[in-house]
Amino acid sequence: MTTSTASAPGKAILFGEHAVVYGRAAIAVPVAKVKATAAVTDAPAGSGCTIAAPDVGARVHLSTPNEDPLALAVRLAIEKAGIEEEPDWQITVRSDIPIAGGMGSGAAVSAALVKAVFAHRKVPAHRRPKAETVNRIVYAVEKLHHANPSGIDNTVVVYQQPVRFVRGQPPQRFDIARPFHLVIADTGIASSTAAVVSDVRRAWEQDTDQYEAIFDGIGEIAETARRAIESGDVDALGPLMKENQRLLRKLNVSSGELERLIAIAKEAGAAGAKLSGAGRGGNLIAVVEPKKLETVQEALLAGGAAGIVVTQIGA
Ligand code: PMV
Repeated sequence: MTTSTASAPGKAILFGEHAVVYGRAAIAVPVAKVKATAAVTDAPAGSGCTIAAPDVGARVHLSTPNEDPLALAVRLAIEKAGIEEEPDWQITVRSDIPIAGGMGSGAAVSAALVKAVFAHRKVPAHRRPKAETVNRIVYAVEKLHHANPSGIDNTVVVYQQPVRFVRGQPPQRFDIARPFHLVIADTGIASSTAAVVSDVRRAWEQDTDQYEAIFDGIGEIAETARRAIESGDVDALGPLMKENQRLLRKLNVSSGELERLIAIAKEAGAAGAKLSGAGRGGNLIAVVEPKKLETVQEALLAGGAAGIVVTQIGA
């Protein structure tokens, strides 16, 4: 009996969420401190293929209808790997990425599952599918979560690199000239990306010119931030986060709890902070200089953050 495992990191959108759905640039980075891991183990002959996610109490069979993201990810990977009959496998997936929190937990779970299936197929490493193929499968599963995903989540999580992302274009890696630190704080409020994205869509339909102008502004901030990161101008990031958050507020995707925690982070010394991901709940990110990391982290926890990840971005 053999077991094959694979994992995929969480991610944080630094700048550009929502506008990225409408063709503007966004930038995002992997967050390796949190991850999803899938393990595929041979099961007794005839037992079929089951997928368990004990952290969320889920257990599904491979033949579960398409609406189940775990079953769909495995089914698409099995098809791509050229396996024709249902294998006798027990698959377990675990994740410490907050669910519905804007850290890409769904995409990471799918990516880990797809990679573990290919690993268990025992094709030699050099013949395993390219990241591009894994990315396509994970994107197909992302579509179950919301009808119109930009593709940024799956791209960062699959390529595991800082990415400048424009919908419909090949992702571009960018360099981080000087490392910087993020405090990622969870509001503890689960937020449905699908619901927030469709609210923005409705508002955009009603007031297209105003929303297009806001998206332009956000896209410019994302490009300016990428150039700043590439040239090592870390000091530019705080003010850019503040400006991005101001525009996200205008899109009506922030919330009282996000604003409260963002204010706490800034009072404690963060250079800037904003929501990350779809908004309404989920996570905020704050850019913080090293000597203030502990103070900001403590202030956010004292202020009621449900969880904190402190991470260095760049080598
Ligand atoms: O909440 P998350 O991590 O799924 O991020 C969503 C990012 C959006 O820009 C709001 C949607 C998208 O598809 O890009």
